[in-house]
Parts: sequence; C-alpha cells; structure tokens
Amino acid sequence: LDAEAIESDTGRVFLLDDVSSTNTYLLDRVGQLNSGDCCLAERQTQGRGRRGRQWVSPYAGSLYLSMYWRLEHGVAQSAGMSLAVGVLLVEALESLGIVGVGLKWPNDLYVGQNKLAGILVEMRGQFGEPADMVLGCGMNVSLGAQAAADIDRAWTDLASLCGDDVDRNQLASAVIAHLRAGLRQFEEEGLQGFLSRWQKYDLFWNRDVNIHLGERVISGRAAGIDEQGALLLESSEGLKSYNSGEVSLRPV
Ligand code: ATP
Ligand code: BTN
Repeated sequence: LDAEAIESDTGRVFLLDDVSSTNTYLLDRVGQLNSGDCCLAERQTQGRGRRGRQWVSPYAGSLYLSMYWRLEHGVAQSAGMSLAVGVLLVEALESLGIVGVGLKWPNDLYVGQNKLAGILVEMRGQFGEPADMVLGCGMNVSLGAQAAADIDRAWTDLASLCGDDVDRNQLASAVIAHLRAGLRQFEEEGLQGFLSRWQKYDLFWNRDVNIHLGERVISGRAAGIDEQGALLLESSEGLKSYNSGEVSLRPV
C-alpha cells in the first residue's frame, strides 16, 4: 500500500506496516478522530473477528481496514449498521468491475461457499450519549499458499476471483469512499435505504439452511431479512426472525 496513491479527500488515513489490530488502533485514539478517519495495515498480529474469533492476518497483500465514526445518537444508532457495510463493500467491488461477490447474513462477503471478507463493528460509549464506533473490514486480496494451512474454513481471495492482480490502493480508495458516503446515508435513512440492496446480494435467499441457536439447530428456508436486519426463516415454526447476536447461519 502507498499512502500517496490512496485517494482520501475527506479524512485522514493512518497507514501502518504492522499493528495488533486496525480496530484497536482507532479505538485507542477515539478522542482524536473525526468521522471517516481510517487505519490500514499491511499485517495484523491480533486481527479479530466477531465473538472473540481470530481473523488470520499475517500476510501482506490483503486489506485490513478500519474506519472511525461518531454516532451522535448513541450506540442504538448502530443497529443494522454492519449489514449496510456489507452492501457498501460489495458495491465498492462492483465499482472496480469485480462482480460475483454476495452476502451471507449478517455480514460476511462470500464467493459461492467461500468466505472472502468479514466485518467487525465495535463501539465505545454510555447508553443515551454520543458513542464512538469503529468498523473493521478484512478482505482477502491475494493470500498465497500458506493461507490454506492457516485458515480453518473454506475461503477465497480476489486474486482467485478476478484472475489478475487487484490494485490494493485502488481497492482501498474505493472502499473508503463507499463507506464514507454510505455511512452518511445510513445516518439519515438507517437500514431502510439498504434493505433492497442487501436482498439483491443475498446468497441464501430461498435456500435451505440450518441456523444454530446455541445447541439447537433449526432447519428451514431463508427468506431474506426484516426491516431491522434480522434473518427471516421459514420453518416448521412458521416465519420467524432471528437476531444476529444469537444465531449462526449454515448452508445445508
Ligand atoms: P457466523 O457465526 O455468523 O457464521 P463466522 O463463522 O463466519 O460467523 P466470524 O466471527 O464472522 O465467524 O468470522 C471469524 C471466522 O472467520 C474465523 O473463525 C475463521 O473461521 C474465519 N477466518 C479467519 N480468518 C479468515 C480469513 N483471512 N479469510 C477467511 N476466513 C477467515
Ligand atoms: C468476521 O468475519 O468475524 C470479521 C472479521 C473482521 C476482520 C477485520 S480486519 C480489520 C479489522 N481489524 C480487526 O482486528 N478486525 C477487523
């Protein structure tokens, strides 16, 4: 990555070689940041996913990007945010001519059965007061052979999808621009402005899936998302919605 080649008209970009986690870097500095400021790193030593899971990030040649945003109306304003971010990432890729990437609820980017990118939204703040949000995106660009041994699931990268080199500076610029504009839209419209766009990229629409609720597994047919961004599932229990904090979606 080259700071000079990353377009960023309306905010700062902190570009690092090595960092524990780009999310942590921003969370440690929230008092000095403006909405839209970003951190990018070549490598992370402690990249993390949701629920304490690991995001494997020792390889330069990928995209580890976090953006700071201040939520004037507090943490409640972030509901549905990560779904909107998924849409924005797919649209950023499309703006570069990269098609064929879809969404797996709540907020993973997949190509077919393989995970391409993940999103982690973290927050600091007291309920009812303005809050600080950091959203992180890890996207596999070109991981190389070692990754097969390091990542414990089916994954893919942009190099496999496009068959040629993806310019990471261009990719970072597009992601940053889409996130900044999209988060402003989210501030005004909430998830409403993103629902039909999310459904457009939904990889599991009308497909048979299992959802895991702790030890319980419910089988059914995925029916998109409701206005709050909860997963809709048609099962023997009828049409019900499930929140992302409580369940995992798995293809059958
Ligand atoms: P869900 O429970 O919603 O299905 P998930 O299983 O995808 O979510 P997350 O917390 O969203 O879990 O993502 C973390 C997981 O992503 C890790 O447990 C690991 O399996 C996988 N992973 C880690 N690093 C990478 C990577 N570089 N590329 C693809 N997948 C990765
Ligand atoms: C997930 O799928 O669970 C989310 C993975 C998010 C990974 C990104 S990489 C940049 C940012 N820094 C982190 O430590 N995590 C996010």
